[in-house]
Order: sequence, then C-alpha cells, then structure tokens
Amino acid sequence: MPTSSSQKDWQDLLWSFAKHRVLTCASRVGLLRALTGRSLDAPTAAAELRLEPLAVSKTFRALAEMGVLERSKEGQHTLSASFALAFGTGDEVAPFLEHSHHLYDSWGGNLEAFLRGGTWPRFARDSDEVRQFSQAMRSMAKAVAPKVVAALDLTGVKRVIDFGGGIGEYARALCRASAELHVTVVETPTVAAFGAAELESEFDERIEFLGGDYIEADCGNGYDLALLINVLHQENQERAPRLIGRASKALGAAGRLAIIDFALAQDGGTEVGALFSLNMRDFGDVYAFERIAQWMHASSLSHVQKTSLDQHRLMIVGHKLR
Ligand SMILES: C[S@@+](CC[C@H](N)C(=O)[O-])C[C@H]1O[C@@H](n2cnc3c(N)ncnc32)[C@H](O)[C@@H]1O
Repeated sequence: MPTSSSQKDWQDLLWSFAKHRVLTCASRVGLLRALTGRSLDAPTAAAELRLEPLAVSKTFRALAEMGVLERSKEGQHTLSASFALAFGTGDEVAPFLEHSHHLYDSWGGNLEAFLRGGTWPRFARDSDEVRQFSQAMRSMAKAVAPKVVAALDLTGVKRVIDFGGGIGEYARALCRASAELHVTVVETPTVAAFGAAELESEFDERIEFLGGDYIEADCGNGYDLALLINVLHQENQERAPRLIGRASKALGAAGRLAIIDFALAQDGGTEVGALFSLNMRDFGDVYAFERIAQWMHASSLSHVQKTSLDQHRLMIVGHKLR
C-alpha cells in the first residue's frame, strides 16, 4: 500500500493538468493582466472582465494555492512576488502562456497516437503564428536573458552572432549589458523581418538581423562570441553537430561558443528535460552534455565546460582553438 505522502504526490501529479489549464485560462481571459501592478477581489475582477463571478472566485483560490497569487485577509489578490520574479508581469508572460495552452492541446490530441506508431504532426506556421511563437519566446527570454548575461564573461566581446536568436531579446539584453557590443541575429527571413521592425532606436545601430538558414547562410566570421540559445534541441542528430560546426566557423581566434538549452536530469536538470525531449518527437532532442561536448570538440572547440543556468537549463561554453 502506498504511504499517505506518496498518495499525495500521485494526486499532485494527476492534477497537474488542471493547474496548467487554470494558469493558461486565467491568462487568456485577462485575469493575470488585470492583476498586473494592482490588487483585485474576485467580484471586481469578474465585473471588470465580464466573467462569471463564481468561476473567478474559485480560479483565484486555486491560483493562490498554487502560489501564483497572494491573497489578503480582505480577499484582495495580487500576483505573487515569486511568480512575478520568475516570469514578469501578467502582460509579459501572456504570450508564453498562450503558447503553452496550445501545447497542452497538442499533447492531449497526439501523444497517444505517437506512442501507437502514428504521427504527431508538426504543422508549418503561418505568418501570424510565427509572430505569436516569436512573442512567446521573447516572453520566456525576458526571464532567462538576465541569467545568461550574468553567466557570460563579456570582457573584450565586441561582435556577437546569435543563431536562431528570435526577435532579438537576447541581443537587446547583451547590448544593454555592454555598450561596445554589436549583435548579428541569424533567423528565418520571416522572424528576421519581425525582429528588424521591432528594433528600438537605441539599438538600431548595434543589432542586425540576417534572414536565412543558420547552417547555410553566409554570416561572416571573426566573431568573439557565438550563441545557440534554445535552438540545438530543434535539430536532429545530423543537423545539430553541423549547426555547432557552423557556429564554430564563425568565431575568430579566441572566440567562444555558448550553448544554452534544456538540461537532462543526468546533467543536473529536472524532468522537464525529458518532457521537452518528447515534445521534440522525432525531429529534435534534448542532448546530453557529453554528446554536445563531443560535437564541440569535433568542431575545433576546446575547454568545453558546463554550468547550470537554472534548474532547467545548462550553459555550455567552448573556446575556439587557435
Ligand atoms: C525555440 S526558438 C528560440 C529563440 C531564441 N533563441 C530564444 O531562446 O528565445 C528557435 C528559433 O530558431 C529559429 N529557427 C528555426 N530554424 C531555423 C533555421 N533553419 N535558420 C534560422 N533560424 C531558425 C526559429 O525561427 C526560432 O526563432
């Protein structure tokens, strides 16, 4: 017989689907946004957003018990400090929660078929969906980029190339951190165009978007730092080492390649690494550090080292052989 504490763990696990849905739906109906920078009670929030008061009240209670909201004795709710610290305001996290809401649908509709040998299709995104996906990535990047910037030694770094750098959130964070730094973001033509259109004037001169395939595009060389942030996992075993080789080739003498991606539990990550690997089905994977290090060594990179960026992510840095 399971003990009562293990029963509680299984209950937690089996109810995690509901926690996910409570969070993404609260965002979709505007509750998290409404709570950005102020406190609200459930009846006021319901009236303001024209929602069902009983459902809002129960949703607020669930979110408070999940740690997303803090609740005062008077029934006022605010976004909890730990949630805001991890993800930002309700506005900032909304695009990522929207993306996550659709992932839930995709897993619910396809995982069983995938297990039974059927397909879990990977649909080509239209232009609106590419924009939404890029905004979702930016929303997560706002939370992760400060950790990346803090973990990277930017001394002497002037030219950076960010392969698959999205609409430039990491590029902006780097430019903010060092005034002498310029970043080239290599992206698909659609994302590169979105990114270029969103450049803030302060960075116009220092961030450049290059549209094309990041393995094939001519993006020059002599860079001090190359970045592969959340991109290796979307490539298969044949293309992933080629992408590392491409990045290594772009580096000048003493340049460095930094790879930031999900970590498997064996490399100090959590179960999220294995879950994300499943999310990449047969087109990508979360690779073990040992494997990535081998690919880096084979691409003229040495002194390959890993550090934990946070509980889910590794940063792996290798130095170009002179
Ligand atoms: C998971 S997102 C990561 C974005 C960003 N690095 C971040 O961490 O927020 C992967 C990015 O790789 C880009 N990408 C995918 N295939 C690509 C290719 N063949 N060439 C250039 N960019 C590509 C996508 O457009 C997307 O923006």
